[in-house]
Amino acid sequence: MKSYSGTGHTDEGHSGTKQQETETIQPAVMLAGEIQLPPDKSISHRAALFSAITDPAEGEQILENYSQAADPQSTLSCLRQLGVSIRTEGNTVYIRGVGKTGFRPPAEPLDCGNSGTTMRLLTGLLAASGTPATLIGDESLSARPMRRILAPLRSMGCHLTARDDQFAPIQTAPHDGIHGITYPLPVASAQLKSCLLLAGLYADEPTTILEEHPTRDHTERSLQLPTEQQDGLTRIQSSLATPVPAQSARIPGDFSAAAFWLVAASVSPQKVEDPTSLILPNTGINPSRTALLNLLQDMGAIIHIQNQRLSGREPVADLHVLGGTLSAISPDPSVIPNCIDELPVLMVAMAFAHGRSVIRGAEELRHKETDRLAAMEEVLARAGCTFSMFDDGIEIHGDPNFRPCPAIYNSYGDHRIAMAAAVMALRSTGESGVQDPGCTAISYPDFWKDLRRVSVLHDASGK
Ligand code: S3P
Repeated sequence: MKSYSGTGHTDEGHSGTKQQETETIQPAVMLAGEIQLPPDKSISHRAALFSAITDPAEGEQILENYSQAADPQSTLSCLRQLGVSIRTEGNTVYIRGVGKTGFRPPAEPLDCGNSGTTMRLLTGLLAASGTPATLIGDESLSARPMRRILAPLRSMGCHLTARDDQFAPIQTAPHDGIHGITYPLPVASAQLKSCLLLAGLYADEPTTILEEHPTRDHTERSLQLPTEQQDGLTRIQSSLATPVPAQSARIPGDFSAAAFWLVAASVSPQKVEDPTSLILPNTGINPSRTALLNLLQDMGAIIHIQNQRLSGREPVADLHVLGGTLSAISPDPSVIPNCIDELPVLMVAMAFAHGRSVIRGAEELRHKETDRLAAMEEVLARAGCTFSMFDDGIEIHGDPNFRPCPAIYNSYGDHRIAMAAAVMALRSTGESGVQDPGCTAISYPDFWKDLRRVSVLHDASGK
């Protein structure tokens, strides 16, 4: 176990001394205003993929507020290469489905960019429909584990190959018929679950996925898949007989983007009675995504959830963050899948929460766009936090009066690390920087613009 005693570290980390573009962050006394969140990334991917396999007789699917971020745009460009007709007007995307078996084998490799969701879900569809294709990704995606999808897809009868039998590029090929499987998820991964449920749409007999710790359920909602609880497990089924329902809807604001603002406003020194505060309209509040909201409230953050309603098949609300003084928390490992993308910024919240917080059961963080446990170890060390690392988590000794050292943070090209580091920097005693800030375009292209707009740099007395 490696421990840090809160003195601030200035080592180079694993970044070397390469000159990199850096975004400057000024300390803020509070955050105030309204933020139009980027559209949800997970829901955008699914809305596009599932629209593409609707029956042409369903007509054009209209997806309002589709994400302009790089990952969901990768999904659109792959679908276009597969012969799906897609047109866009501003943030509205119009997709005419080709049906489950209507993909045209692409002439060139399908470039999934940085997007694990594009690669894993599309592989499920292409492998099970027997469409020959090659899926490639950037350096980060090419290093992420794919055996988790290859093995169960092969057990269904799909034909696939991959580099070293575990990494992209992945090749899908025609098969001699596939069959359903019953599959207890060995890792709590919504991408794996969704990949197999999509493949299940092509087999006569049902595919049944068994989940011990439920992950995000956007696929089940969007496809209206039968789901039941049994013996402490969630059972989700799909089969050839499952109709692909119409997908036209408005995509909610991304809770995972809201997370940065929820934490930033909760740890800012602003007072609850302050008349100004931060408002996040149209935030997706699907319970399989919002563990961070519950954890922050349990820690003492005052967050109001107003105007709850449905947007398509997804719940949304307006969130109003009033601040608070945070106390330590140790989340139960069973909720980790429901805040997996929010863990980096939760660690920042923990640095400002009175007492000892522990996260365990988060080994999956090592397999994200970068090793997010290693990257956050570096962020917290540079800030001068007191903490210790585990293979599957972290223990943080927090203090509401903690002031991070001014630092240059390495994002490792990972959007969530860049944004978590920025939230840390807002409480610093001086100017900080985040390297490779352009990576936030993966999920939140306007993040830096929004950060500057809502940061209040001086209190009323001008201090
Ligand atoms: C996602 C699932 C999660 C999450 C990712 C998006 C999805 O990945 O980290 O950002 O859209 O299904 P895993 O399934 O690998 O946990």
